[in-house]
Amino acid sequence: MSGTLTFLGIESSCDDTAAAVVRLHGTTPEVLSSVVEGQTALHAAFGGVVPEIAARAHAERLDGCVEQALSLAGLDLSHLDGIAVTAGPGLIGGVLSGVMLAKGLAAATGLPMVGVNHLAGHGLTPRLTDGLAFPYLLLLVSGGHCQFLIVKSATEFQRLGGTIDDAPGEAFDKTAKLLGLPQPGGPVVEAEAALGDARRFQFPRPLLDRPGCDMSFSGLKTALLRTRDAVIAEKGGITLQDRRDMCAGFQLAVAEVLAEKTRRAVQIYLDLAPSSAVLAVAGGVAANQALRGRLEAVSAQLGLGFVAPPLRLCTDNAAMIAWAGIELFQAGQRDGFDLQARPRWPLDQNAPAMIGSGKRGAKA
Ligand code: KG4
Ligand code: ZN
Repeated sequence: MSGTLTFLGIESSCDDTAAAVVRLHGTTPEVLSSVVEGQTALHAAFGGVVPEIAARAHAERLDGCVEQALSLAGLDLSHLDGIAVTAGPGLIGGVLSGVMLAKGLAAATGLPMVGVNHLAGHGLTPRLTDGLAFPYLLLLVSGGHCQFLIVKSATEFQRLGGTIDDAPGEAFDKTAKLLGLPQPGGPVVEAEAALGDARRFQFPRPLLDRPGCDMSFSGLKTALLRTRDAVIAEKGGITLQDRRDMCAGFQLAVAEVLAEKTRRAVQIYLDLAPSSAVLAVAGGVAANQALRGRLEAVSAQLGLGFVAPPLRLCTDNAAMIAWAGIELFQAGQRDGFDLQARPRWPLDQNAPAMIGSGKRGAKA
């Protein structure tokens, strides 16, 4: 290995087929390539991700993504030290496609294989991009998840609180759908919001009256539906400006709730880890500039450092999986051919289940 570790990463847990090569030189990581093939067009007619279509597309495209990632890095399989693959949580057909490919590559090459929790991939990204030291407070905010975690090591995450129902990304996606905008909703709602008046329509700020840093976002989409229907009832339809104003009001409500809950999470965190005052954000919704701005302001007010990865490493990608694989490999993890694809896989196994818990255990 001569002082370097080079890992291929494979990601296929939702609707992005991705492969990447990350190299660690001593203590400095470098993303040599990162290929992300989105599936937006495949799911557009259905208004959301269709798991069977996603799984088939992953199975068809993963090989090509891996070839492209290797070729862009100027490497072949013989230059790798290991293969990292998302083994959950996510849509099981897609996760299986990635895990089966990783097993095939590991069997053919004899390379070690490391199964990565997709959420750990997001959560460890601030170390890839900014070399952040453990521990740090993380707000993980994506299409399926929203939690405050203390990241203590590559394998230890302590959840301080999170959403009790929808994730913010889901709320952005539903807002887009209700307003006739395309998926994924986050970027388009953000673009519309930039042209709107956030104070024209009032949206609730759920759970702000409760202590702690648990959150709720499902009421926001109901509020948006009511607002939209009230405008339609009054004027017979919604104008472009109505839509922009609704997007702006909705986004402001999400950003204000997340900012206030972050304030509270920071207090809890500083009581537990006073010497390590850094807030990091990760996950697709962390690509939202309005949200980043607010979180940065909260951090500055409370005297915390603030780390937000570049946008392309906030949304789903395989560089974060390759990087988490390197971290886990260094911590001694090696997986065998019995590596399971897991639809549910909470990062903090000790925290009580919050959403989606059932016979199969906690989802988040
Ligand atoms: O992390 P991610 O790529 O996939 C999951 O693991 O969920 O997050 C996808 C989510 C989607 O719901 C998408 O609408 C949201 O992130 N998103 C955004 C923005 N970009 C992506 N939400 C708000 N503002 C954005 N700019
Ligand atoms: Zn994700």
